[in-house]
Amino acid sequence: MRAPLIAANWKMHMTREPAGRLAGDIVRGLAGLDGVQVVLCPPATALDVVARVLAGTPILLGAQTMHWETQGAYTGELSPPMLVDAGCRAVILGHSERRRYFGETDDGVGKKVRAALAHRLVPIACVGERLEEREAGSTDAVVVRQVRAAVAGSDAEALSSLVVAYEPVWAIGTGRHATGREADRVAALIRRTLAESAGPVAGRVRILYGGSVTPGNIGEFLEQPEIDGALVGGASLDAQAFIAIARAACRAGSP
Ligand code: PGA
Repeated sequence: MRAPLIAANWKMHMTREPAGRLAGDIVRGLAGLDGVQVVLCPPATALDVVARVLAGTPILLGAQTMHWETQGAYTGELSPPMLVDAGCRAVILGHSERRRYFGETDDGVGKKVRAALAHRLVPIACVGERLEEREAGSTDAVVVRQVRAAVAGSDAEALSSLVVAYEPVWAIGTGRHATGREADRVAALIRRTLAESAGPVAGRVRILYGGSVTPGNIGEFLEQPEIDGALVGGASLDAQAFIAIARAACRAGSP
């Protein structure tokens, strides 16, 4: 049984003060909630503020990206030990915005996944096809390629903590989401692809859907057998919306 996971990707939003307030509102709104793992990924400058708000709660702190090296001459980058030191337990890797605007490659995402696992950070590896790839009928080929690269060279047993977020690029921030059935079909493909490298451990990997998730559509994703939660962008900036999404996952996860 895979525990549902709801992750908030705040992207490049919020300075420290509003970030701390939003985290506080979410902590209060989710107090006592059991059966769903929640991760908040604020921008790097707000990690310490949010870490303080989350201390002593079951909500985990995550970062939005990192470098794969431990230290070195990589101006502007943050390393896995730096994120651990800041209180992070998880990190989003290979988000489509990182791939699109900052040149991240499949190979680089694989290095980052290996580095995250080595430092006991939960990698949330993002995959998903662009609109033109979908229209060309290459969704499956793109997703399989991205998943294989993300787990290349990783120890199979260590991959049990991996989280894969299926985020069709055309659904991110557009208000247009995949149907639950389509997302589930791709999630099943992701799990089969993981099984090629990781064997039975693939059954423990959590697969999230991401792309215009709201309180109104989260149910459609959570009822799918291969989908274990969501990576939420826009709606995670609204405490009430995010709380509603996490609560829905808690209900879906309870027997
Ligand atoms: P969105 O973003 O929920 O605003 O579509 C999701 C994401 O980019 O992770």
